[in-house]
Amino acid sequence: MLIVVKVGGSILKEVPPEIVSDIKSVLSEHQLVLVHGGGKGVTEVASKLGKEQKFVFSPTGFRSRYTDKETMEIFTMVMAGKINKKLVSALQKQEIPVVGLSGLDGYLLRAERKKRLIVVNEQGRKQVIDGGYTGKVNQVNASLLKLLLDNGYVPLVSPVAVSEEFEPLNVDADRTAANIAGALKADKLVLLTDVEGLMFNDKVVPELCVDDVESKLKKIGGGMITKVYAAKEALKNGVGEVVICSGVRKTPISSALKHEGGTVISSE
Ligand SMILES: Nc1ncnc2c1ncn2[C@@H]1O[C@H](COP(=O)(O)OP(=O)(O)OP(=O)(O)O)[C@@H](O)[C@H]1O
Ligand SMILES: [Mg+2]
Repeated sequence: MLIVVKVGGSILKEVPPEIVSDIKSVLSEHQLVLVHGGGKGVTEVASKLGKEQKFVFSPTGFRSRYTDKETMEIFTMVMAGKINKKLVSALQKQEIPVVGLSGLDGYLLRAERKKRLIVVNEQGRKQVIDGGYTGKVNQVNASLLKLLLDNGYVPLVSPVAVSEEFEPLNVDADRTAANIAGALKADKLVLLTDVEGLMFNDKVVPELCVDDVESKLKKIGGGMITKVYAAKEALKNGVGEVVICSGVRKTPISSALKHEGGTVISSE
């Protein structure tokens, strides 16, 4: 099987050894493409550099970083540099043939720049602001990923995309993983994070059909809502199933493939 795994930045303060060893064992049977997040890491470094980060909320509950030019430089430094290479090193230590890439490399991820954002201000009113350097992936260079996969490499992608004007853009890592999974027609997309799965009233939802998602969106908070949208997009684009689960347990990926814990989202 071909599996796309997104490793949440929420669990990447130190690379969890359980993830590394499980990647190694999953690779004996399957092909893997990895994507990572790292929002908190970006915020931390930005703060050390004296660049406090601003976040905005969309009317549908999405939280996003307001990404001006300076923030985009820091975002690229941390995502494509610090975090990506920390993971590359951790995987290489276990002899995993990983290739760390940003979406800029080989035009891996092309995105449309968001010209404007509709945000909800502190008074609860809608407001239109400049989109900054944020974007939405609209094209994945699947043949570059296949070239690596066919030669036994494991691509590890950071969520920095290239715009129509060849500028780097901040793109959401969950949606990026979904785009990649869709473009590769992956069998499964696994989203590893710091909670057991999608929760309602403190309980994990073990299974969910994508058609039932819509009615529940209002009950889902920031962080998780992008995963649910990512799941919808991936399934629409032909991915077999999506699992949202904890990345800080033993064998997180193998367990997700066996439906041991987490939330399985499918088309039926
Ligand atoms: N209904 C919900 N069920 C589960 N988690 C929820 C829910 N609503 C909001 N969340 C939040 O979503 C968070 C996970 O998303 P978050 O973006 O923080 O992590 P991540 O995606 O793993 O990291 P990164 O964004 O850096 O890649 C959880 O820690 C939780 O607080
Ligand atoms: Mg997230």
